[in-house]
Amino acid sequence: MAQLFRPGANSIAVIIIVAIFVLPTGAVAVSYFLWKSPYATSQYLTLAQPVPFSHEHHVGALGIDCRMCHTGVEKAAFAGLPPTHTCMTCHSQIWTNAQMLAPVRQSLASGTPLHWQRVNRVPDYVFFDHSIHVAKGIGCSVCHGPVQKMALMRQQKPLTMGWCLSCHRHPERYIRPRDQVFNMFWSMPPDQIAQGRKLIAKYLIHTAHMTDCSTCHR
Ligand code: HEC
Ligand code: HEC
Ligand code: HEC
Ligand code: HEC
Ligand code: HEC
Repeated sequence: MAQLFRPGANSIAVIIIVAIFVLPTGAVAVSYFLWKSPYATSQYLTLAQPVPFSHEHHVGALGIDCRMCHTGVEKAAFAGLPPTHTCMTCHSQIWTNAQMLAPVRQSLASGTPLHWQRVNRVPDYVFFDHSIHVAKGIGCSVCHGPVQKMALMRQQKPLTMGWCLSCHRHPERYIRPRDQVFNMFWSMPPDQIAQGRKLIAKYLIHTAHMTDCSTCHR
């Protein structure tokens, strides 16, 4: 039989196939990887703050409850950041002359709030609400990591849409009893999925709507 293709045509075909399909896919994959990389999402960065406030000291060592400083977290969309007088409930008595706390004393004296830099942020077109997550048994540590070990705060999770959806599709993988939401040392039971399904039923979570675009984009 006459040869239709020269020997070597195969390898040319392979090169063409690679050029047509694999390279653009690779380019898309690489750009997607960069686009949602920690660099692009500001993950793990720490920011300069007016006072080098340490969660490691205040939460890890002293065991102060999150709600003393983030008073909105159970009731509102925003957890909120503490006003100066919250710091002064303790620091009018302890570490009163520490140089590190000078900006706090100045803020109290002048009535000008401290300007804490925001670490975690979702874009304006995304709706997020703390209170519902707290009410439905999602712990602070799931989204903010081991805060009790952070000398300086960092954004622990990517906060991308894919990340939100990974839980909204399967909340049973992350949910815990409501009274453990603030417990930074809670760990999952070996039968998390079974326990998680029970909690979903108990807390009346309607999983069908959790992935609707309008849940987060209103
Ligand atoms: C004594 C007060 C205090 C307590 C208690 C406290 N925090 Fe904070 N928190 C702050 C201050 C002040 C900031 C702003 C400075 C910073 O980012 O470190 C902050 C920032 C944060 C941020 C980042 C906010 C942003 O800009 O995105 C998270 C997340 C957070 N705290 C979680 C927690 C959790 C979880 C707990 C309990 C386990 C807790 N905090 C307990 C005072 C406190
Ligand atoms: C419930 C009491 C309490 C509150 C409220 C509190 N602190 Fe403290 N803070 C302490 C204690 C106690 C220490 C000493 C910790 C140590 O030496 O281990 C401390 C230490 C510090 C230090 C010294 C460095 C360090 O972390 O050890 C800074 C800075 C500081 N606090 C800032 C703040 C700011 C800012 C606020 C308000 C957002 C605040 N604190 C609220 C009790 C408190
Ligand atoms: C389901 C994930 C999730 C959980 C659970 C969660 N957070 Fe957040 N947190 C976020 C996101 C996302 C932001 C950024 C919100 C924004 O940009 O509006 C944020 C922001 C914050 C801030 C900055 C101020 C604000 O309200 O925007 C603080 C403080 C905070 N969280 C504390 C907490 C504490 C304390 C808990 C536990 C009771 C908690 N968070 C539980 C996702 C979560
Ligand atoms: C670890 C799990 C988890 C993560 C991560 C998570 N969520 Fe949720 N979210 C839930 C659960 C559980 C509910 C409660 C749903 C219900 O009761 O119907 C909820 C509810 C909500 C609601 C309220 C829906 C309503 O019916 O009012 C909004 C809005 C929302 N989430 C936005 C977000 C956004 C935006 C992110 C990412 C930045 C996010 N969530 C990340 C578990 C999570
Ligand atoms: C659980 C919350 C949640 C749901 C549900 C959700 N989104 Fe998003 N979406 C986000 C968050 C958070 C961002 C911003 C972070 C990012 O860009 O990944 C975002 C960003 C976007 C963007 C901006 C492009 C981008 O990725 O940067 C588009 C477009 C979008 N969403 C469309 C949709 C559509 C369409 C749906 C329904 C199929 C949907 N979203 C459902 C949370 C959600």
